[in-house]
Amino acid sequence: MTNNVMVSIRNLYKIFGSASEEMMTHVHAGMGKEELLDVHGHVLGLQNINVDMKEGEITVIMGLSGSGKSTLIRHVNRLIDPTAGEVLIQGENVLDLGEEELRKMRRTQMSMVFQHFALLPHRTVLENVALAPIVRGEDAKSYRQEAIKWLARVGLAGFEDRFPHQLSGGMQQRVGIARALTSNAPIMLMDEAFSALDPLIRTDMQNLLLELQKELAKTIIFISHDLDEALKLADHLVILKDGKVVQQGEPQHILLHPEDDYIVDFISDINRARVLRARSIMAPINGEAVAGDVDQETTLEEIIALSGGDTNAAYRVTNGGGAPVGVVHMNALVQALVPTSASESKRAL
Ligand SMILES: Nc1ncnc2c1ncn2[C@@H]1O[C@H](COP(=O)(O)OP(=O)(O)OP(=O)(O)O)[C@@H](O)[C@H]1O
Ligand SMILES: [Mg+2]
Repeated sequence: MTNNVMVSIRNLYKIFGSASEEMMTHVHAGMGKEELLDVHGHVLGLQNINVDMKEGEITVIMGLSGSGKSTLIRHVNRLIDPTAGEVLIQGENVLDLGEEELRKMRRTQMSMVFQHFALLPHRTVLENVALAPIVRGEDAKSYRQEAIKWLARVGLAGFEDRFPHQLSGGMQQRVGIARALTSNAPIMLMDEAFSALDPLIRTDMQNLLLELQKELAKTIIFISHDLDEALKLADHLVILKDGKVVQQGEPQHILLHPEDDYIVDFISDINRARVLRARSIMAPINGEAVAGDVDQETTLEEIIALSGGDTNAAYRVTNGGGAPVGVVHMNALVQALVPTSASESKRAL
């Protein structure tokens, strides 16, 4: 992971309506979404969004229906122009691009995976996967091998000559992912890409994405309204409400340090033992006796099972290379299972 910022959203506002720019005065004066709609008939889609999306990371944008997720992702490829603010891709403001440059950026820098797959029904699976190189005008010889490779990689070797309607929903979305990978773009935009799938298939797809991501390190912008999915996939989690960012950060950090009552509510039903990991609750090593080693990615649930319920035990935490990085005390683990309130979390910061 490089930590370079790939996509940067700065002071972004989007107001829908005929006099959107004039509405900015009201918004700057503190008028909220509801009032702007009631009094002026304009929809405040996004307000003052600042998010940096890093190269090689999965940024998950999460929020309830209508919170502005799709509006935000559509700014990244400039399907929507902002009312105010900037969208920088590798430092370049997409608002400065001419039509031709914009098309080129969309073609070479970004791929999209859609909720309803968006496959072309009269094209074969292979042609769907190779859509980007076909549109770029490359000949079959050069893209065929690449398309076959990615189809195999998503578990669909041998399906090249089928048509989309001959595949299940889960398989169609695998085609969608293979298409995004064949385009070879560094940024992947995924708007509710797994939301139409059955729960088990959805879990498979999340695992596939994480597995591919380990190898490919794309910059992925993933939209979800499912908190479990968001916590599983996100390196960086952005929670939207009424077009505003309520909190953003590393998901485990948000679980342990919610800054707002809305977030406390939002995360209240999460199975913390299954989501929180050793690295998030460990303390510095202090020469204490330990009952054994656990990897830093071990879930609290797994540590509880390991301890057999002994609340006095402690475990040494090791990183991927096996080096000790901290200690988990069972009493700290038990405390972490109880949700933190926003006020407690602010006091701790
Ligand atoms: N073209 C438009 N004209 C007017 N209002 C719009 C337009 N597009 C979106 N909105 C409004 O902007 C707000 C954000 O919508 P958006 O589609 O981004 O939400 P979302 O978080 O993606 O929701 P969902 O989970 O339902 O997809 C909503 O209040 C919506 O009604
Ligand atoms: Mg949406």
